[in-house]
Amino acid sequence: MMGNHSKEKEPLEKQILESKRKFQSIIDGITDGIVLIDSKYKIIAINKFMQQKINKSFPEIESKHCYRMLNCPSYGSDDCPAKKTFKTSGASNVIHESLDKEGNEVYLDIHTFPLKDENDDITQVVVHIRDISERKRLEKEAIRIEKLTSTAEIAAGVAHEVRNPLSIVSGSAQYLQKALGPSHAYREYTETIIKNVQTVEIIISELLNFARPLPMSLELKDVHECLNKTLRFLEKKCFEQKIQLIKEYGRKLPLVMLDEQHIGQVFLNLALNALQAMPQGGKLTIHTQQRCPEKKRVMVKFKDTGPGIPPENMVKIFAPFFSTRPTGIGLGLSMSQRIVEMHGGFLTAESTMGQGATFIITLPCHES
Ligand SMILES: Nc1ncnc2c1ncn2[C@@H]1O[C@H](COP(=O)(O)OP(=O)(O)OP(=O)(O)O)[C@@H](O)[C@H]1O
Ligand SMILES: [Mg+2]
Repeated sequence: MMGNHSKEKEPLEKQILESKRKFQSIIDGITDGIVLIDSKYKIIAINKFMQQKINKSFPEIESKHCYRMLNCPSYGSDDCPAKKTFKTSGASNVIHESLDKEGNEVYLDIHTFPLKDENDDITQVVVHIRDISERKRLEKEAIRIEKLTSTAEIAAGVAHEVRNPLSIVSGSAQYLQKALGPSHAYREYTETIIKNVQTVEIIISELLNFARPLPMSLELKDVHECLNKTLRFLEKKCFEQKIQLIKEYGRKLPLVMLDEQHIGQVFLNLALNALQAMPQGGKLTIHTQQRCPEKKRVMVKFKDTGPGIPPENMVKIFAPFFSTRPTGIGLGLSMSQRIVEMHGGFLTAESTMGQGATFIITLPCHES
């Protein structure tokens, strides 16, 4: 009797199991987060991608509240798209903004849609979670580059226009100085004019340099060799300024496609900024490594023991003409960022006030 009964039931059980398995493999094949919740907001199913994202397996979160397990910022608020879907029986959408552990902005595009029973009553909600942080980052980047390009164009235009009248001022002052002779009482003034015009001329040529398109000539190069070439210029300066230069080079760093002159300029800008931030001496550590786990990038860090960068300046330091130094023009970092980006990489900064600043260059490499 028992045997017969279970034999009859087996195909149905099998069918249910089979369709459950199919459902799970379909959602597991999706590379966005998929979570199924019931009307009490308890998790009924979740795909592999989402389990990996939150670092928890299904048995750990089964029947637990979705807002707890997913750390949901719209819990309890009317923004919750699942709440809206349960209320209206229609699809809903929200974009969540938050920061990850490293302080990077994370944007999640969340869509919810209803699952209904045979009476057309909504019993469950499917939550589809897509990470759009990279897209948002690229959008912001495009806006920043556009702003930078227009700033550079204006700068080039102004610099060009100022150059001619300035050379007339300079020429006239030199003529006047000669005419007055070496012991004239007003010589002090002509000297002041000439000296200041020279400063403006330096600023203008830096501006024009900044605005000019950068011709790139990329070759496979050893990053350590490029670093050593640049650092050689600075050894004397470091010694005089009582700055300890520490090379923490990673082993077996792959070659990188780079324009040696431009990247050398970036290394120089970052090292000079560090030196200028430590007038009383300190430590400049240059650390290199192949970035794990994907290993497709090489990272070069410049870490100093200066005063650090105040949080309110962190977003400004890469903008052209932002400088807190009396003699600074404020083009070093924006120029460096532009060069690194032209290599397909990025330049970022980290800082804790009172503990120094770290600038990080990340470059793509072509070997694994
Ligand atoms: N290592 C650092 N420590 C602290 N602050 C820094 C550091 N590097 C850069 N900064 C801050 O960022 C600002 C911008 O740097 P950037 O190199 O662009 O310009 P600058 O050094 O002031 O002038 P320029 O490089 O054009 O001569 C600096 O004025 C300083 O406030
Ligand atoms: Mg600088």
